[in-house]
Amino acid sequence: MIEINPSILNSDFSDLRGELEKIRTADMAHIDVMDNHFVPNLTFGPPVVERIRAISPIPLDAHLMIDDADRNAPVYAELGCASVTFHAEAVRAPVRLAREIRRLGAKSSLALKPATPIEPFVDLLGEFDQILIMTVEPGFGGQKFLDVCLPKIRRTREAISASGLEIKLQVDGGVSKDTVTRCVEAGADVLVAGSAVYGAEDAGTAIAELRELAAAHTH
Ligand code: DX5
Ligand code: ZN
Repeated sequence: MIEINPSILNSDFSDLRGELEKIRTADMAHIDVMDNHFVPNLTFGPPVVERIRAISPIPLDAHLMIDDADRNAPVYAELGCASVTFHAEAVRAPVRLAREIRRLGAKSSLALKPATPIEPFVDLLGEFDQILIMTVEPGFGGQKFLDVCLPKIRRTREAISASGLEIKLQVDGGVSKDTVTRCVEAGADVLVAGSAVYGAEDAGTAIAELRELAAAHTH
């Protein structure tokens, strides 16, 4: 089963309760935390995520685009996010941090920017419940899907299969009706979609359409 996790980055932040309600048929709410250092954009931090967690009808999938993940990521697990994704480029000790996140009760997840290879992490796959392959440069919603990332999605799927472990493969950035097939055929099983869901006339319909297209191309 392919999972759809809408990103609230392009939702109306003045009505988070209403915006979260719109995506209650999705698997998880993708929460983009940005610190204006790791990426040139700023969203919100722990106090706001705590409130989102309290009112969200579905579990939270936190995507941390923040520096010094070793220090700054564990709090999101403590706040009850079901999954906590930190970036390979922002962590000093990925194994220690992944174990800390799991100890705090969340799924551990590792994100790679477009230019970061999966190969150095292949022997560490067992530390993670999910790998996130970025298909845009992180920082903003509404960017164009980068096809140059597809070979890495394929290689990551092969490495996960070879490991025999149950690890999700998430794709984030420019996922829409036009690109969902490419993602799924390359091996993704969790799709993040921001503008494709919140820019649609009806978010629930957009989620259902993405699910249908994804299911049609799963192998
Ligand atoms: C980008 C964020 C994404 C973004 C996706 O840095 O990590 O989650 O919100 O938005 P779309 O689907 O519009 O590319
Ligand atoms: Zn994201």
